[in-house]
Formats: sequence, structure tokens, C-alpha cells
Amino acid sequence: MKAYATELNERNTRQNTPKMVFLLAPLLILLAVIPLCTYNSRLALPSAKISISELRSIELEKKCDIFSGKWVPYPKGPYYTNESCHLIIDQHNCMKFGRPDTEFMKWRWKPDECELPMFIPVQFLEIVRGKSMAFVGDSVGRNQMQSLLCLLASVAYPEDISHKYTSETDYFKRFYYGEYKFTVATLWSPFLVKASDSDPNGHSLNSLMNLYLDEADEAWVSQIENFDYVIISAGQWFFRPLIYYENGKSVGCHNCDINNMTAITKYYGYRMAFRTAFRTLQRLKNYKGITFLRTFAPSHFENGDWDKGGNCARTRPFTSQEVKLDGYIMEFYLTQVEELRAAEKQGMMKGLKFLLLDTTEIMLLRPDGHPSQYGHSLHKNKTVNDCVHWCLPGPVDTWNEILFYMLKIERLRSLVGKLMKYAEVN
Ligand SMILES: *[C@@H]1O[C@H](CO)[C@@H](O)[C@H](O)[C@H]1NC(C)=O
Ligand SMILES: *[C@@H]1O[C@H](CO)[C@@H](O)[C@H](O)[C@H]1NC(C)=O
Ligand SMILES: *[C@@H]1O[C@H](CO)[C@@H](O)[C@H](O)[C@H]1NC(C)=O
Repeated sequence: MKAYATELNERNTRQNTPKMVFLLAPLLILLAVIPLCTYNSRLALPSAKISISELRSIELEKKCDIFSGKWVPYPKGPYYTNESCHLIIDQHNCMKFGRPDTEFMKWRWKPDECELPMFIPVQFLEIVRGKSMAFVGDSVGRNQMQSLLCLLASVAYPEDISHKYTSETDYFKRFYYGEYKFTVATLWSPFLVKASDSDPNGHSLNSLMNLYLDEADEAWVSQIENFDYVIISAGQWFFRPLIYYENGKSVGCHNCDINNMTAITKYYGYRMAFRTAFRTLQRLKNYKGITFLRTFAPSHFENGDWDKGGNCARTRPFTSQEVKLDGYIMEFYLTQVEELRAAEKQGMMKGLKFLLLDTTEIMLLRPDGHPSQYGHSLHKNKTVNDCVHWCLPGPVDTWNEILFYMLKIERLRSLVGKLMKYAEVN
């Protein structure tokens, strides 16, 4: 199974590398022949602040698969603390609620063949100047946004403008960085498709729900068209008892006790939800954004299931010898990556980009990153330990380092495109 994952990763890199080489060669030639003053004054560059040394550093990394690697000690510790960032919510604020160990904040992701660049908030904000970014998914998606807010907090604090868009400001968040005209939002949609409660006893952590697999959830679809970057994810909600619907009719159910219904796996529901979400984005007339699939983030319950007193008390990462990507985690991962690859192909015809933010194996190695009993959420049952979300600061900060890296590469591609057009015209 492990070999399968590696093969998949290799396939991804192989697909990407030739393109980058192809793009970089003309770029470097163009940079050499176009005098710098000309290209500063006459070209509408994506951002004037890109430097040649930055281009070179990216070029050096072009053959690197940043998603294969290991966690290495980083004694300097995290980018921020719960004192320097005022935006950590209680669900993620493990230090506030007495987590005794601090080692878990002192690791960095080290790709096998290169370095993952540090997150530089000013550069990030320059790249996203005038743009908007949405995290679509469940509370783990929100976890990434909260990390991003803290990574940017040493440079700027945003204004919370959620109330201008919704009355449900617990679940739908919008923040605005005035100086950079940058909007970042979370759109709550744990299944990505339409869902409703179906349990006679009402909603609870494990109650039965209806899932309409071919209908994308209006909660995000109605908001998404003008976003420039969309980071989509989904996960733990697909384990609960679910009745699946297609064309408005029930087709079967997962993990349910309804004896006249066909049993269907959770993988089917997961696959169809991503398929519907990606197809919906392709169909939206005004959507021009770049879509990132942030892949499945595993939970780490030990000593019992989540509802049977399980916890996650480790204080160190795993090595890749200690744990393998396999079983249901592998299946979830492969399922969503297959759907992303299909979307990538369809998107090419429409000029829409779909990219992989491949965090599954990276996070599988971090059983030490969860709040366990040191996170507090208003709505949650406190007897359940949280081995699903991630402490801040913590390993989720790495997702944004990767996002930053990918945005830099996309900007480079777009710069190359403009330079090539310029070269054709002249
Ligand atoms: C930050 O964490 C410390 C423990 O390291 C805790 O005493 C303090 O209350 C926390 N502060 C905030 C604002 O969460
Ligand atoms: C299953 O049985 C219930 C009641 O016995 C009925 O209401 C429902 O329509 C049935 N579902 C299917 C898929 O046959
Ligand atoms: C909290 O969860 C436990 C374990 O699932 C359950 O026994 C208990 O009744 C729940 N308490 C509340 C207030 O929901």
C-alpha cells in the first residue's frame, strides 16, 4: 500500500516537472534579454516585487516532491505563541488549557530532496494582495485558516467582517486585511454536498443524516464564484451513519441500521461528494479561481475509539518506520486524489486549475499534534478527547507553508505566461 502511495506521488511529480522545465527555460532566456527597466515599466506583472533570486530558488526546487519527507527537530520553535497571536480559538489553544509539553511545536517538515521555504508573512500578503481565499469544508478546514491568521499576525491583523455576510458567524467567517485588500473566509460545509438530519432523536455526534450526493451544498456554492483561491477538504463526517441520495431518491446507506436498505461504503459517499464539488466548480460561469484539494487529515485515537474514551497523548512525531499509510486512510486519500486528477483534466479545457495540497502522510506522522483533553469547544461534549483537530501553533502551520510555496510557484507560472505574451507582441 505504501508503494502505491509513492507511485502516486511520483506520478504527480513526473506530471509537473516537465511543465516547469518547459516554463522556466523561456523565462530565464527572457529575463536575460529584456532589460530590467523595460520590464518594470512596460509590463503589467502579477506583482512587481518578484525578484530574480526568488525565481532561482524556486527553479532549484522544481524537481522536488515537497510532500515526501520527514519531520525534523526545529529547536527555534513555532512562528507565534498564544500570547503573540490573539486569534487562537479555544478549540486549538492547547497551551491555555494546560497542555504540559511543548516539544510538539518544535518540528519542521523536511522534504527529502529540498527545503520547504519558511513562511514569510509580508511576501504571502503581497502575493494575495487584492485577492480572496476561501476554506471550504469542516472545522479542520477552519483549523488551517486560524493557523494562517496567526502566521500573518506579526504583520497585520484583519477586521472580522463575518456579520456582513451571515448571521451564522460561528460557522461562516470572513476576515479582511484592509492594507492588502485581502479577504479570507471559511465556508462551513462538512460534506461539501447537501445534507440534512434524519435521526428521530435529533442531531448528535453520531446521529443519522441524509446526504444528497449529486447536489453541491448551496452554503458554499452560493458564495464561491468570486474567490481567487479555494481550499477544499472533507473528512471525519463521512464516518457517521448516512443515507445516500441520488436524483432525489435514496440509493442505500452507510453504517446504518435500516434493514431494507442496501449497504454502501463510506468511500462511495466520499468519492461522490468530491466529484460533485469539483464538477460544480467547473460549471460555475464566473468561477476563475485556483482550487486546492487539502487531502484527508487522519485522526489519532488510541486506547479506545473516539466515543469510548480514546485519547492521543503522544508527545513526539512518528517516523515513517513506525507507521504506514494504509487501510481506510489510504482508501480515503486515493479516492479523493483520483477525483482531483479527473477534475484537473476537465479543468484544463476551461482554464481552471486544480492542485493537490497533499497533507495526509505528513499528518499521519503527527499523533502528537492534537488537543486531546487540552482543547475546549463551546459546542462539544467535554468527555470526548479531541484527536481530530490540531493545536495552534502546531503541525497545521506546515499546511500554510506549503500553500505559500504553491502560491509562489503559481505566480511564477503566471509571470512566465505574461512574459511569453509580451515576447510574442514585440
Ligand atoms: C497561553 O499559554 C499559557 C501557558 O503556556 C497560559 O498560561 C496562558 O493563559 C495562555 N494565554 C492565552 C491568551 O491563551
Ligand atoms: C424501507 O421501509 C420503510 C418502512 O418499513 C419504508 O418507509 C421505506 O420506504 C423503505 N425503503 C426502501 C428503500 O424500500
Ligand atoms: C458525552 O459523551 C459521552 C460518551 O459518548 C456520553 O456518554 C455522554 O452522555 C455525553 N454527554 C452529553 C452531555 O452529551
